[in-house]
Amino acid sequence: MRILFASSEAHPLIKTGGLADVCGSLPPALKRLRHDVRLILPAYPTAVAAAGKISPVAEFPIPGSDTPVRILEGVLPKTRVKLYLVDSPLHFDRAGDPYRASDGRDWQDNHLRFGVFARALVKLAMNQAGLDWAPQILHCNDWQTGLAPALLSQHPNRPATVFTIHNLSYQGLFPRHAMEDLILPPEFWDLHGLEYHGQLSFIKGGLVFADHLTTVSPTYAREIQTAQFGNGLDGLLNARAHDLTGIINGADYRHWDPSKDKLLPARYDVDNPAGKAICKQRLQERLGLEVLPDRPLLVHVGRMVAQKGVDLILAACEPLLAAGQIQLAILGSGDRNLEARARAMASRHPGRMGLQVGYDEGLAHQLEAGGDIFLMPSRFEPCGLNQMYSLRYGTLPLVRRTGGLADTVVDTHAQTLAEGTATGLVFEAPTIEALSEAIGRGLSLYQDQAQWSELMHRGMTQEFSWDRSAQAYQELYRELTR
Ligand code: ADP
Ligand code: GLC
Repeated sequence: MRILFASSEAHPLIKTGGLADVCGSLPPALKRLRHDVRLILPAYPTAVAAAGKISPVAEFPIPGSDTPVRILEGVLPKTRVKLYLVDSPLHFDRAGDPYRASDGRDWQDNHLRFGVFARALVKLAMNQAGLDWAPQILHCNDWQTGLAPALLSQHPNRPATVFTIHNLSYQGLFPRHAMEDLILPPEFWDLHGLEYHGQLSFIKGGLVFADHLTTVSPTYAREIQTAQFGNGLDGLLNARAHDLTGIINGADYRHWDPSKDKLLPARYDVDNPAGKAICKQRLQERLGLEVLPDRPLLVHVGRMVAQKGVDLILAACEPLLAAGQIQLAILGSGDRNLEARARAMASRHPGRMGLQVGYDEGLAHQLEAGGDIFLMPSRFEPCGLNQMYSLRYGTLPLVRRTGGLADTVVDTHAQTLAEGTATGLVFEAPTIEALSEAIGRGLSLYQDQAQWSELMHRGMTQEFSWDRSAQAYQELYRELTR
C-alpha cells in the first residue's frame, strides 16, 4: 500500500516529545510490512542537518505564499523509509523549537507555517507535486497536520485520510482572522467545520474531516469521549465513535534496549543485570547525588506541564527526601513556574535530589537505566512511552491509572503477584496522598529483594513491539481502501 505519513516531528530528525518517537518508529514498522510508506515533515534546520544526504525533487506554488515550496528528498536515517522535507525558508528556516521562539513564546505565524505544510500535503496527496506518486492513504498526526484532511475533503478522487490524536489538549487554536490569512473556504467557518468557540481550530480539521480517527491507546479512545478528558471536543468525538480506534504505541527497541544502548555507561539485560548497578552509580555521580547503591532512586523524565503531574511528584517526595528515605532525579523543561519549584526543591536537598532543566537525550536514557522506580503520575496520558521503556530497563513504572498507562502497566498486589502478571505500581486519584501511598508501596517492595527481582525480570521481558501496532494500522488502511 502507498502511504504518505505526515508529522511535525520524527526522531532522530526533530523531537520535543513522544510524537517524534512514534513518527520515527511507525513508518519503519510499516516499511517492514512491505508498504511503500513515505514520511513528510517541515524542513526545520535541525531536521535538514540530521537527514544527511537530501536533494530537491519538486517545486510548486502555494496559495497565499509569495515564494514556492520545494520538496527535498532523502531517507529517514538508519531506515529504508523515504523522507520528504517541505522547504519553505520563510516559515521553517529558524533556530530552535518547531513551535516556539527562544523566549518560550509560540511563533506568531504558526497558523501560516502549518498552513503551508498542509497545502504541501494536499499537493502530494493529489499527485500534483510532480513526483509521479499517488498515495492511497494520507496519515496525519496531531493539530499541525489538521488542515490537510479538511482541504483534501474538497477534492474528488482523493486518497483516504487517517488522523491520529496524540494529545487532544494541543488543538492549534488561532484568532478568526487566520481564516482569511490562510484563504480558507468560508464554509469551513462553522460549528460542524473548523470553528471552535470563535477561534479557528486546526485539530478540528482532522477530527471532522478525516475518514478515520485513531488515538494512541484504547483507554484514551474511551476517555476522550467524556467531558472530563474531551477538552470540549467530546461531543464531536462521540458522534464519530464508530470511526475512532485506539491503537497502543509500541516501544522502539532499536533505540530503547539496555543491552544495546550506546548512551549508557554499561549495558545489561535480563540474564546479565549487573550493568544496571553501574548505571545507577554513574547517574548518582553525574547528578551530584550521594553514591548509595541501596537508597531507592526515583526518577522522572518529561515535559514540565500540568499533564505530567510533576507538581505531585515534588510534593509527595519532599518529606521522603527530608527523611533520607529516597533519592529523586528529574529531567525536564517547560512551565517556568514548575521549573522554578523543582529548582528550589533541589537546592533544599543537596546530594539527595538531582535536577536537570532542559532537553538531554543521553540523560533520558541514563535515568531509565539508573533509576529504581520511574514516576508517571500523569493527570492524563494518551499513551506514554517512558513507562514502556522503564519496563525494558528494569525500572519499576509507578503510574496513574489513565490512558495508555492503564493499558500497559499491571499493578502489584496479592492477586497479580499470585498470577504472575504484576509489572509495576498503579494508583487512581491525581492527588499527593494517592501518589504518596503508591510510593510507599514501592518502597516496601524494594526492601524485598526476591520480589523486586521477580518484578524486574517480568518487566524486562514484556514486549510492546511496533510490529504488532503497525499491523493494526495496516488493517485499518486496508478497510479504508476496500
Ligand atoms: P509526551 O509525548 O507527552 O511528551 P511520552 O511519554 O509519549 O510523552 O514521550 C516523551 C518522550 O520524550 C520520551 O522519549 C522521553 O524520554 C522524551 N523526553 C521528554 N522530556 C525530555 C527531556 N527533557 N530530555 C530528553 N528527553 C525527553
Ligand atoms: C503525546 C502524548 C503521549 C503519547 C505521545 C505519542 O505527546 O502526550 O501520551 O505517548 O503523544 O503518541
